[in-house]
Amino acid sequence: MYKPFEITDNIYYVGVNDRSKHLFESMWPLPLGVSYNSYVIEDEKTVLIDTVDICYSDVFFRKIVSLLGDKPIDYLVVNHMEPDHSGSIELLVSRYPNIQIVGNKRSVDMLNGYYGITKNVIQVEDLEEINLGKYTLQFYMTPMVHWPETMMTYVKENRVVFSGDAFGTFGTIDGGVLDTQLRTEKYWDEMIRYYSNIVGKFGSPVQTALKKLSGVEIDIICSTHGPVWTKEGSAAEVVSLYDKLSRYDADNGLVIAYGSMYGHTEELAETIARAAAENGLNDVVLHNVAKSHVSDIIRDVFKYKGLIIGSPTYNNKLYPEVESLVSSLQNRNLKGRLFGCFGGFTWSDASAKNLLAFANEMEFDLIADPVVIRQGMLSSVKEAAQNLGMTMASKLK
Ligand code: FEO
Repeated sequence: MYKPFEITDNIYYVGVNDRSKHLFESMWPLPLGVSYNSYVIEDEKTVLIDTVDICYSDVFFRKIVSLLGDKPIDYLVVNHMEPDHSGSIELLVSRYPNIQIVGNKRSVDMLNGYYGITKNVIQVEDLEEINLGKYTLQFYMTPMVHWPETMMTYVKENRVVFSGDAFGTFGTIDGGVLDTQLRTEKYWDEMIRYYSNIVGKFGSPVQTALKKLSGVEIDIICSTHGPVWTKEGSAAEVVSLYDKLSRYDADNGLVIAYGSMYGHTEELAETIARAAAENGLNDVVLHNVAKSHVSDIIRDVFKYKGLIIGSPTYNNKLYPEVESLVSSLQNRNLKGRLFGCFGGFTWSDASAKNLLAFANEMEFDLIADPVVIRQGMLSSVKEAAQNLGMTMASKLK
């Protein structure tokens, strides 16, 4: 096997690409795959940063051996215990029985809970350091980015941060490892989809982590998913995107997400979209919730400031897929959206009422009264829909 790529002096990439799995966390489609990143630091002490999903442990160990031969590994640093990164720990310990595992109070507890590992464990505190010889590791506790035990590890001497899930993205790393060796365009939408669906609920902890790191000089970001981001490449852009997303800030565009059984609610969606476009709004995205994957809708809702949701009334409630979307947005503590809604019914109006309750709970800025269609489209309803699209466009411009 080829020798693993050297990111910078004595720091190597030993992660793997997963182009087989269909659904990350058994939920999120992976059209561009995903990488599970792991890194080796070779110094007087040899360190491994995180492991990989157990499905790829064979490739992972072959990479490590091609780099280190039969040299022992002194430390495993566990930045994150989610099994896409901790899944190979048990096998690692069986291959390297003397390895010492470095984690924090929460991860030490999870090491026991997941894998029954209690021996050779070193518990570190916030900002504690471990000297490796030439290099020093410093640990930054960053809880809830994305789990309570998450932390980052900083190598002071060459300004490299191993950031866990932060700054990660879906998408395998094909050939190159550094952002400067890859076409990065394909990652931006996938990064927003990754952030919004996986980490999106934790905007406030991400902000806390970013503030904590703001005084730290960083030249290279090694996250657990996606390319290694460099100062010469896109590191600043990535940090800025994570900052924006975790503040729930967004671009001036509009997402219209709707369900429609016989086309009436869809006709309203089209009318609203057309009116928004006629009033100068170019960034308009329509999602039929029965077809678009919810992860794509959530990505676009995080991307754009305007949100209009439409739903037929079904069993005196929201259309099930709309209800599921609304619940997903509630779970992610989405904030700061300009909001409108529209609903359809035949004999009992429930959808618009439910969407209004959702808007109130989320403290969205309701830009107009709901547009309600009873059975077929009347000219007054069409006019109200056009007004909604026009108002949204004027607010977003
Ligand atoms: Fe990639 Fe939260 O694990």
